[in-house]
Amino acid sequence: MFTILIATSKGGAGKTTIATNLAACLAGKRQRVALLDLDRQQSAARWLARRPQGFPQIVAAELGADTKTLRAAGIQWLVIDSPAGLHGDALTERVRQADAILVPVAPSSFDFEATADLLAELERLKPVREGRRPVALIGSRVDGRTVAASDLDEFLAPLSLDVLTHIRDAQAYVHAARAGLSVFDLPRSRGEELWEDWPPVVDWLQSLASARK
Ligand SMILES: Nc1ncnc2c1ncn2[C@@H]1O[C@H](COP(=O)(O)OP(=O)(O)OP(=O)(O)O)[C@@H](O)[C@H]1O
Ligand SMILES: [Mg+2]
Repeated sequence: MFTILIATSKGGAGKTTIATNLAACLAGKRQRVALLDLDRQQSAARWLARRPQGFPQIVAAELGADTKTLRAAGIQWLVIDSPAGLHGDALTERVRQADAILVPVAPSSFDFEATADLLAELERLKPVREGRRPVALIGSRVDGRTVAASDLDEFLAPLSLDVLTHIRDAQAYVHAARAGLSVFDLPRSRGEELWEDWPPVVDWLQSLASARK
């Protein structure tokens, strides 16, 4: 089982949207996926509870679920959505449990500052510093036509971390979420453009997962 932690300092950067869509993306590739929601708001857990039958299945991981039980259930990917501002011991513990960490960054100066703080804290953790817990960034809610999007590129460029993709800002994410769906559950005519943003994320995770085997 490969565990992916989605974390940001800043609220509203797109963690839950990325966690739920990533889980559904992997499930759509016939992978056994579990979603764990660490946030008291339980947005990802509620999304999963709303998820209609007939779409690729995602297992709801219990808060106390141990990796052994999930592994025994054949889970291949565990996606963890976390509350904004995860830091200190809680962050250390979750990083220890994860195989990779994804940090969404929305295009605003507030997000850049908060992200810089989180990256500095991650870098202080030994498993991250030693490369045993790869960290990658994802531009989130990006509208490529805006000044904010170029500011995002400027912020990301000097960082020595992989920037996997920019997830575009699209109402389809909001509409799909309302129905317990992801953009991968939409018909091709509505989803296809949005799917294009995701392969680099899946490829990065798959290459880490297969290197670990
Ligand atoms: N790519 C996107 N396009 C359009 N809207 C988006 C996108 N990503 C997220 N949103 C919307 O932005 C808001 C915040 O996103 P989300 O809840 O995923 O962020 P979060 O980081 O999980 O927030 P929190 O810190 O509160 O848990 C939501 O209303 C969501 O629907
Ligand atoms: Mg959230």
